[in-house]
Amino acid sequence: MLTAARWFRNPYAVLDRHRAAGRFQFMLGLPGMGQVWVTGEPTQIGEIVRNPDLLGGRGTRALRPVIGEHSLLALEGAEHALHRRWLLPPFFHANPQRFASLQARVLEQALAALKPGQPVNLRLWAKQISLQVIVRCLFGELPAAEVEKWCLQIEHFMQSFRSPLLLFIKPLQQDLGERSPWGRFVRRRAELLEAIRQRWQAPLPGSILAELKASCPPQINEAAMLSEVISLLLFGHDTSAVGLAWWALWLWQHPDALQRAREEALAGQAGEYLRATVQESLRLTPPVVHLTRTARQATQVAGQPIAAGQHVFPCIYLAQRHPDAFPEPDTFRPERFLGSAPHFTEYFPFGLGHRLCIGMPFALEQMVQWATHLLREPDLAVIGQSLAPRRVMVLMAPACGPMLVRQ
Ligand code: HEM
Repeated sequence: MLTAARWFRNPYAVLDRHRAAGRFQFMLGLPGMGQVWVTGEPTQIGEIVRNPDLLGGRGTRALRPVIGEHSLLALEGAEHALHRRWLLPPFFHANPQRFASLQARVLEQALAALKPGQPVNLRLWAKQISLQVIVRCLFGELPAAEVEKWCLQIEHFMQSFRSPLLLFIKPLQQDLGERSPWGRFVRRRAELLEAIRQRWQAPLPGSILAELKASCPPQINEAAMLSEVISLLLFGHDTSAVGLAWWALWLWQHPDALQRAREEALAGQAGEYLRATVQESLRLTPPVVHLTRTARQATQVAGQPIAAGQHVFPCIYLAQRHPDAFPEPDTFRPERFLGSAPHFTEYFPFGLGHRLCIGMPFALEQMVQWATHLLREPDLAVIGQSLAPRRVMVLMAPACGPMLVRQ
């Protein structure tokens, strides 16, 4: 029970203790999940991905009241494949720069509004502007007031399940009217779904919504569409904000790397080194700590028996700090990514295989682009000493923010 509590509070610390003892695979007892097999061994991770009996989609069970039953994150098998074929094209587009000018514009406006001497929490600031970006990409170039209305409504909804207990403890899920926690959650979700439903009727040309409507397979009904759009809205902004916050914290703690990345940013477009700083930050502190796979029948991986229904965590954090793949694994050294790419079973901050994050190109380009903009403004400072993490729903974020200030 104590280990489980430690795991929920800070999985990085639990994993560090196992690493210190030279263990890169172990069993972890978790309430509601039983004995979970956690592994950061690349060969085992490769076998897990190839094993047809280990399914994704069940690790997000607690999120189902939020995202619904038909989100890519919750689906398996043929339905998952169908939804993925439908959703992938706008994100894995032939032109990765497709959203770049919108992403840049939103950031420039936010930077211009930063008042000298008034620090802001970088993660929360980035979360707000990432939300504006995903709203405008999904729904198109709406008037500013309408974008603001969407952002408020989504934030309002997210506030209603700020305490993860509400999602994890079933008896709390009682609708006792709009003043009760669950009652508030249910009503805000229904309002948001209604707003999405109305937009779906007449999507703006050029928006992702218009593209999805035009290519929507007949098997995908309204409930499935709503599930997907709400997932894209929620997972399409907090994740990149957490990634950017970690990147800034690491970089500003390493003045030589900061200087080199800044020189590249000032010289023009993001170069190889700057990109490597983003990759290195995602290696050391992946916002998503592990994937979850569940055995649909008894199976085994590298001699490890897995019972039917048992969960397996291919662990991103553990694999990405494996000393065989990354010498001096705890050191921030972006150079390790220059001219070489790690194997996909050693480095997978966006997941892997047929469940690879569909927002990966979108999020990576946004992180690199925003990093470049921040570096181009020498009067911006990032303040944060501690690398201690805190849980933000399913993500691990820097507890200190860090703070961003225009000096
Ligand atoms: C730094 C930013 C991000 C990180 C670190 C991240 C990480 C991940 C990871 C690790 C997975 C795999 C989960 C699994 O296999 O169980 C995943 C899946 C997913 N991500 Fe992301 N993500 C990011 C940004 C985004 C964005 C911007 C979007 C949407 C626009 C998005 C939407 C999704 C969806 C829909 C899936 C499910 C894919 C599937 O199961 O087929 N993510 N993400």
